[in-house]
Amino acid sequence: MSTVATRSITSVAFRQVMAHVPTAVSVVAATSPTGPVGLTLGSFTSVSLEPPLVGFFPAHSSTSWPRVRAIGRFAVSVLGDHAEDTCRRFAQSGGDKFGGLGWHLSPLGSPILDDAVAWFDCELESEHEAGDHTCVLARLHGFGTQGQGRPLIFCHGTYQGLDATSRRDVLHPTTNPEV
Ligand SMILES: Cc1cc2nc3c(=O)[nH]c(=O)nc-3n(C[C@H](O)[C@H](O)[C@H](O)COP(=O)(O)O)c2cc1C
Repeated sequence: MSTVATRSITSVAFRQVMAHVPTAVSVVAATSPTGPVGLTLGSFTSVSLEPPLVGFFPAHSSTSWPRVRAIGRFAVSVLGDHAEDTCRRFAQSGGDKFGGLGWHLSPLGSPILDDAVAWFDCELESEHEAGDHTCVLARLHGFGTQGQGRPLIFCHGTYQGLDATSRRDVLHPTTNPEV
């Protein structure tokens, strides 16, 4: 059994241990009167089926989330494993994040990135204080997939794709455990 190293909860240690948790990378974006606005998030998650709710955690330091919140409607674009540059672009504060990028409008009129493999059309449901972040719950009004690509994964501080060879189909397990 491997030794369990208990570490004091410093932000550095917290990030180092959380780096073992793989996350998909998404961009939350809204259409503001002055143009599209958005930011990269690794905290996007499903929350409830009935009613259909999703969630994510923007930091209080984000300059884009307050602008997205003010619109109240936004789309979540789950980035494909080819879209590392797009991820980095939306992870920077300021500047024209959408410049030269392909995007189109969702049924509710929010920006969906062409680099997305899946998208979710949302309306702000509620916000809850969560330390130096906010827990955002959003009501789902539509969703879809784009192309056949695989999601971009952020893990151990690096961007990765899902390696098809290591996939095990848990929904349709094979009878032969060796396969
Ligand atoms: C892979 C990745 C995941 C991130 N996840 C989050 C997150 O869940 N919440 C958050 O507030 N910021 C997250 N960030 C940082 C924001 O993207 C960044 O602080 C933000 O885009 C700053 O821009 P803004 O000032 O325009 O909001 C993440 C960045 C990266 C690269």
